[in-house]
Amino acid sequence: MKIAVFADIHSNLLGLKAVLDDINKKNINKVYCAGDLVGYGPRPNEVIELLRQKEIPTVMGNYDDAVGNMRLVCGCDYKDEKAMKLGERSISWTKENTSEENKSWLRELPQQITFTAEGLRFLIVHGSPRKLNEYLFESTPGEYLNDLLAENSCDVLICGHTHLPYHNKLENGHVVNVGSAGKPKHGNPNVNYAVINAAEKNVSVDFIEVAYDYETTAKEIEEAGLPGEFADIIRTGRT
Ligand SMILES: [Fe+2]
Repeated sequence: MKIAVFADIHSNLLGLKAVLDDINKKNINKVYCAGDLVGYGPRPNEVIELLRQKEIPTVMGNYDDAVGNMRLVCGCDYKDEKAMKLGERSISWTKENTSEENKSWLRELPQQITFTAEGLRFLIVHGSPRKLNEYLFESTPGEYLNDLLAENSCDVLICGHTHLPYHNKLENGHVVNVGSAGKPKHGNPNVNYAVINAAEKNVSVDFIEVAYDYETTAKEIEEAGLPGEFADIIRTGRT
C-alpha cells in the first residue's frame, strides 16, 4: 500500500500541479492533503478548486481556518515584528482574494482524517492532534510524540505545518512530516511530498522532491502586490 500525502501548498498552483503530476506517475493507492491550501501565494482559488475537483481528502490547516473564518491572524509563529507585518499583509490579501464559496468550503474541512491500512491506524492532521497550529519538528522530544501517538491510538501520525519533512520512528509508532508542496523551507526551491509505504505493519517513507517552474510563481507573487519576501522564499526554499 502506497499512500501519498502533501501539505502546505499556500496558494502555489504550479507547485501543487507538479506534485500531483508526479504522484500520477507512481503506483499510488491513496492520496491525501494535510492542509494549508492558502496564504502567501498568488492563486488561492485555483488551488482550492483543483483539490475540490480531484476530490482529494483534505484536513484543515491553520491558514485555511483563518481565511475560511475571516480571522485577523493565521496562527503562525513569527520570528520578529517584520515577519509579523508581512504575515498580516498575506492574510488580508488572501481573505480579499478567496471567493465566498471557497471560504465556506475551507470552513467545512475536518481537522483530522483517520483510516486503517495494512493493519495500521493512520491519523492525518495539519499541525498536531492537540492543536491546528502546533509545530511538530524532527527535534520535538520523542516522549512528547509517543504521548501523541498513544492518546490518539494511532500507529502513524502524519502532519505538515513546519514545511520541513522528516520521519521519526518511535516506540509507539511513527511520526511523518510531509514537508511543503508550495512553500518549501528545506533549502532549495523544489516542492516536496511524502510516499508512505505500508506493508504488513511495516512502514517506510520516501520523501520526494519535485522541480517546477518556481520563477513563474515568484513573479506572480510580485505582480499580485504580495510582499517580495514571499517570492524570495519561493526562489530559494529558505526563510
Ligand atoms: Fe500551517
